[in-house]
Amino acid sequence: MARCFVTRELPGPALDRLRSRHEVEVWPERLPPAPAELASRAAPAEGLLTTLNDRVDAALIEHCAGLRVISNYAVGHDNIDLAAAAARRIAVGNTPDVLTEATADLTFALLLAAARKLPEAIASVREGDWLTWEPSRYLGQAVGGATLGIVGLGRIGNAVAQRALGFGMTVLYTGGGPGPDSISRVPLDRLLAEADFVSLHCPLTRATRRLIDADALARMRSNAILINTSRGPIVDPDALRVALVEGQIAGAALDVTDPEPLPADDPLLSAPGLIVVPHIGSATRAAREQMAELAVENLLAGLDGRPLPHQVQAVI
Ligand code: NDP
Ligand code: DGY
Repeated sequence: MARCFVTRELPGPALDRLRSRHEVEVWPERLPPAPAELASRAAPAEGLLTTLNDRVDAALIEHCAGLRVISNYAVGHDNIDLAAAAARRIAVGNTPDVLTEATADLTFALLLAAARKLPEAIASVREGDWLTWEPSRYLGQAVGGATLGIVGLGRIGNAVAQRALGFGMTVLYTGGGPGPDSISRVPLDRLLAEADFVSLHCPLTRATRRLIDADALARMRSNAILINTSRGPIVDPDALRVALVEGQIAGAALDVTDPEPLPADDPLLSAPGLIVVPHIGSATRAAREQMAELAVENLLAGLDGRPLPHQVQAVI
């Protein structure tokens, strides 16, 4: 029996399987453990099951002398110092594939909501402002026939491309791939200049942090809508606020922000044409329960000394 620390209750029965094999402590609070609490709970653990809220940096890894496996309850793993884990031969796992369709659905929900001004239209009904049928209010953008630019054609980028083709969109992409013949790979600058919708699906890395900065936003069309369901720090939030306020782009729909959570008084929230939802890309019951299964499988494999079913490789 190994000691495991799990930083959050997870949906579904997966954690029971872990409990049947190992000594498991689960952090019971709604908010994640603060860094000092995480360090003290993780210190005696051989297995750690983390969420994207937990920063597993070199200091924490150093602090956990017996740690053998880190299982992240997410496909993204930018919260984990992979090089520090690799240096200690600690295996790191993630949860790909099972959340791809859920995240692509949410991406398209955001795209459609922003294109058709759904938040304003819904609010007008609740506020008693639905006075009559009006020819010129809430005029949005056509999606069919528009151009979607996908940054990062991986699992989720591909699933978004399929949806876009179904809607009759032209699809451009940069990074990842190769994609099907029906979509075209172009450099980022051309994608930004030609797309009516730009959707981000690359991981957060040194190369992608602030990829969408003031310069990138200035290259976008004035009717363009930016959608981010990848990671908040890929977009410069100050530059985005300015671009929305000055009408350089028409809108943005964000599932992820920087910082996260976004405080209710953050200046970005007062920008026009902005939709923000609280990082719910993978939030279907099926996806979140399957993520728990994969996270537990990764942890069990690492504790048994087997290769993880979904092991993340450090790029050194
Ligand atoms: P994948 O690894 O399958 O896809 C990522 C793609 O991005 C790859 O094709 C990769 O190409 C490409 N890429 C890497 N660097 C760049 C770059 N500089 N510019 C353009 N493209 C780049 O991951 P997933 O599709 O499964 O997930 C993508 C990300 O989405 C995750 O890392 C996570 O951060 C986020 N996510 C968010 C969710 C949410 O709840 N909002 C849910 C799930 C994921 P290559 O392989 O050639 O490096
Ligand atoms: C991920 O998996 O990376 C998401 O951000 C949460 O599901």
